[in-house]
Amino acid sequence: MKDFTFHIPTEVVFGRGTERQAAELVKKHGGTKVLLVSGGHSAEKSGLLGRIRQDLTAAGIPFESLSGVQPNPRLSLAEKGVEIVLKNGIDFILAVGGGSVIDTAKGIAIGAANPGTPIWDFWSQKVPVTKSLPVGVILTIPAAGSEMSDSAVLTNDTIHQKRGLSTQWNRPKFAIMNPELTLTLPVYQVACGVADIMMHTMERYFSPVVGNELTDAIAVALLRTVIRNGKIAVGDPHNYDAMSELMWAGSLSHNNLTGLGGIKDFATHQLGHELSATFNVAHGASLTSVWGSWAKYCMPHNPERFASFAEGVWQITEGSTEEKALRGIEKTVDYFRSIGMPVCLSELGVGIQSEEELRGLADRCVFHGTRTIGQFLKLDGEDCYRIYKDANH
Ligand code: NZQ
Ligand code: ZN
Repeated sequence: MKDFTFHIPTEVVFGRGTERQAAELVKKHGGTKVLLVSGGHSAEKSGLLGRIRQDLTAAGIPFESLSGVQPNPRLSLAEKGVEIVLKNGIDFILAVGGGSVIDTAKGIAIGAANPGTPIWDFWSQKVPVTKSLPVGVILTIPAAGSEMSDSAVLTNDTIHQKRGLSTQWNRPKFAIMNPELTLTLPVYQVACGVADIMMHTMERYFSPVVGNELTDAIAVALLRTVIRNGKIAVGDPHNYDAMSELMWAGSLSHNNLTGLGGIKDFATHQLGHELSATFNVAHGASLTSVWGSWAKYCMPHNPERFASFAEGVWQITEGSTEEKALRGIEKTVDYFRSIGMPVCLSELGVGIQSEEELRGLADRCVFHGTRTIGQFLKLDGEDCYRIYKDANH
């Protein structure tokens, strides 16, 4: 087991009606003036934003609003948020939505706490983060896990780059999780969330460090829970119990619990981010469209790990190590297909790519040859090209 630090300062408030505690939690965490950040329309339409505004007003907390966050959130909107915060003396950012809204809130918080430095300087790792404003979350979709994670992913809409930034400063002060708020989700978004939650655990399970018995057991239990409840939720998105399991799993999957003592891989995420930056596709779908190709490419490097995954997650016990490994990959890909997720580029809706386009995707993914991606197997531009090519049907 590798050494680790595990510090998750986020206060979780889970259950029906808990969004009504938002104003009180803002005060508890030092907020006196709030920027309310939200997405396109779902939180307005459901009445959630109305309730939050009412409660902030009743609690005597002044606020400004910034709506219109889009999936694969844009840097330019976060910059606009920083202006509002600085102009109005705001000291707390409250995100109402999913990963895109939360990550925009994190971007605003870092940008506003460091007014002389462009936000992208932090996301492109030019400048380390040493301060941020506090962020609180009211979660409306179980998926990205940003409500407890140390990361935030923004898309620079000028240079078309999607980049994640990991820092302890990104951990929200509180996360309100009421599964009732997810019951308006379209089935496709539920499935994208299921895929992303699974992937956050798989990206940690496929680690070059193995033999962490408890961490592996937690990862396998989480995956089995998400697979079972994901199927129920996609068939019945109004199922409170299934959405509750997904919501909690989404947070645990990405707060680092499922990878303690190991080393994260995250190659599939980098391959997916390049697809989202280029084609603006949903994050969960970008991952499932390449995971099977990534897995087949990496399996020969460590078939034992894939066989353990097949045994633990899918109870595949018959056959040689390699047969079990391959069967586990097939079962996972079949599962993605069964919940309506794409498992190749044409199903992702980006058509069939030319050789030149595939080479371009791979080259951008490895920052023009200046980095490799992944840890389970370190992948260079040629490896990424082969994985995209295998998924290109
Ligand atoms: O904008 P609205 O109208 O709210 O619609 C949203 C959006 O279209 C809709 N939605 C959310 N809650 C809803 C709802 N519709 C009806 N009812 C509700 N209750 O869902 C759509 C997707 O929202 P989004 O926030 O984009 O989803 P998600 O949570 O999957 O976030 C994806 C983003 O998070 C990043 C991804 O790369 C992507 O940009 N990630 C962030 C991570 C982190 N910060 O730790 C880790 C992840 O790996 C991921 O990279
Ligand atoms: Zn993800």
